[in-house]
Amino acid sequence: MRTVVAGNWKMNETAGQASELVAAFAPRVGEVLAGANGGIDVVVAPPFTALAAVAPALARTGRVALGAQNMHWDLSGAFTGEISAPMLLDLGVTYVILGHSERRQYFGETDEAVNRKVKTALAQGLHPIVAVGETLGEREDGRTRDRVVTQTRAALDGLNEDEIARLILAYEPIWAIGTGKNCDAAEADGVMAGIRACHGALRDVPILYGGSVKPDNFAAYLAQPNVDGGLIGGASLDANAFVELVRLAAAAASG
Ligand code: 13P
Repeated sequence: MRTVVAGNWKMNETAGQASELVAAFAPRVGEVLAGANGGIDVVVAPPFTALAAVAPALARTGRVALGAQNMHWDLSGAFTGEISAPMLLDLGVTYVILGHSERRQYFGETDEAVNRKVKTALAQGLHPIVAVGETLGEREDGRTRDRVVTQTRAALDGLNEDEIARLILAYEPIWAIGTGKNCDAAEADGVMAGIRACHGALRDVPILYGGSVKPDNFAAYLAQPNVDGGLIGGASLDANAFVELVRLAAAAASG
């Protein structure tokens, strides 16, 4: 199983700031990856407006892939304010985060919309990173597994096994995002085992944990059998922290 470290920068960094951030971590991440013997993929997902600015520096590392944080399901047309898969591909994007809880919560993205986007991304040759997760209320009601399995099955609806094999999933408990209250690693692993078990084709699909991942807690997640990496928000905006997260993942992948 590949280990994946993905940084989701959310709505942070102008193009100029993004270039500075990449300059601060990309050569160091490149060195860590050159010395790693395990299969590890590193992705960073800046805002759309910074994709073009950072693409050349990331490409120079030869090892850090460019991701986007969202895209539309149609390829072009009258969708004011939206960004299509061909636009992303044109900038060198190879991964796209779909169904992040902030998209679902603040922008009304439904399971059906996420499924349409996943299908388009796959058809266009992008790797979707599909995020699922429960609210605090759902967790307290004992509905975590039901919620994430429902979201996962909906995202996979209509996909064949080969298509599912090209996905990455991310389990992000909403109550753990940006709060500093990261989910207990064993508890996250149990939820992620439930996600993996909900479809036979997920056997070899990396499942990432996201929610207040930091250098001091990442190793505990990586040690879990169903955790194949991290989807990281705040800590991916700090060059030193991001390099350390990649180092931890490389150690886990080769150990
Ligand atoms: P934080 O790492 O800031 O909690 O964000 C997690 C996240 O939402 C990544 O997509």
